[in-house]
Amino acid sequence: MYISQLSVTAFRNYAQADVTLQPGVTVFVGANGQGKTNLLEALEYLSTLNSHRVAVTAPLVLNGENQALIRAKVVAGVADPRTLLLELELNPGAANRARLNRVPTQPKQLPAALRTVLFTPDDLAIVKGAPGERRDFIDTLVSTRWPRFIGVRSDLAKVLKQRNALLKQVAHAGGRLDETSTVTLEVWDERLVGFAAELIAARITTLRDLAPHLSAAYASIAPTAEHASAEYVPTAPPAPEADPTTPATWANALTKALAAKRSEELRAGVTLLGPHRDDILLQIGDFQAKGYASHGESWSLALALKLAAYQLLRADGIAAVLLLDDVFAELDEQRRARLAANIADAEQVLITAAVDDDVPKVLQGTRLQVVAGSVTPTTE
Ligand SMILES: Nc1ncnc2c1ncn2[C@@H]1O[C@H](COP(=O)(O)OP(=O)(O)O)[C@@H](O)[C@H]1O
Ligand SMILES: [Mg+2]
Repeated sequence: MYISQLSVTAFRNYAQADVTLQPGVTVFVGANGQGKTNLLEALEYLSTLNSHRVAVTAPLVLNGENQALIRAKVVAGVADPRTLLLELELNPGAANRARLNRVPTQPKQLPAALRTVLFTPDDLAIVKGAPGERRDFIDTLVSTRWPRFIGVRSDLAKVLKQRNALLKQVAHAGGRLDETSTVTLEVWDERLVGFAAELIAARITTLRDLAPHLSAAYASIAPTAEHASAEYVPTAPPAPEADPTTPATWANALTKALAAKRSEELRAGVTLLGPHRDDILLQIGDFQAKGYASHGESWSLALALKLAAYQLLRADGIAAVLLLDDVFAELDEQRRARLAANIADAEQVLITAAVDDDVPKVLQGTRLQVVAGSVTPTTE
């Protein structure tokens, strides 16, 4: 899969830009603040309906405009000329609108048509940051493998919101459940357990499938023999003999744990356990990466997680487009060369850099200049 054309209209600092792209390596070069990351963010948004930088769409729209448009032509493969035209209109405060090959469709249909793996310096937070950063990492990967999880995640978020609102109301009323709230809570519990169990099973399946790729990627990036691993840490542990890759296991575990936590939740007024509180333990050798790993090790691990995600998708038969934002400037010479060797055979890699020389010469390909929201050369 590769992107042959990217157009943005009223997106971030772009009034209009049309960029023709080839398979292989493309490097967007430009000084800071010119719009390099914005271009990758447009592709991130199109392929995940999410931005790693903002939670709402308003900042994505050019100041003074009220909607933005992202458009990409995606070619199935170098040997497979079938194309799809993805279009997404961002309407802050209202629903986004999508078209696939000019036919109106739901936005959530777009991520199945374009898969990306994005690595940015912000990904250091996967290693060093709060559990939410690690959950976002795994959930993004789960949703990239199986796009229907975009729906599962938003359903889960809605149920949590409603359940928390009810718990808060009960907590305010002294923590006692009346008959109506008992019935309502049962409904939210059932829905919470359903979506949560599916998501946790998918996260664990994905971490297991990721493991060999993570070891290999870390070994190929870090100049060390230590092994990198990622292990799921649930807030509702299942029975030891249960299969953690099936939703039924988690439905049981969550149902039991929620019952045990009921009175505490009624006092706290918030959902105390579930996938929104789970974590992933990242280790280098026998040490927890967070708090122990050096800056260089943390970088290597964050990068290895993303490269592993890319390789896992490839093993699934999914050719994702690799997006590397400002990565090479952060790496020493050896890690740069190792990363370059890792991605040299990717079908399409879009790289941003302030300094072209930071990108190893082996990554030959197109260089495009980004200056103040314009990309040259353009074809239209
Ligand atoms: N909604 C917006 N409207 C206009 N300009 C924006 C908007 N959002 C961000 N910008 C501008 O985009 C620029 C940053 O672009 P970015 O792609 O992050 O730069 P870089 O080339 O360093 O990656 C900044 O100058 C910022 O002011
Ligand atoms: Mg940037």
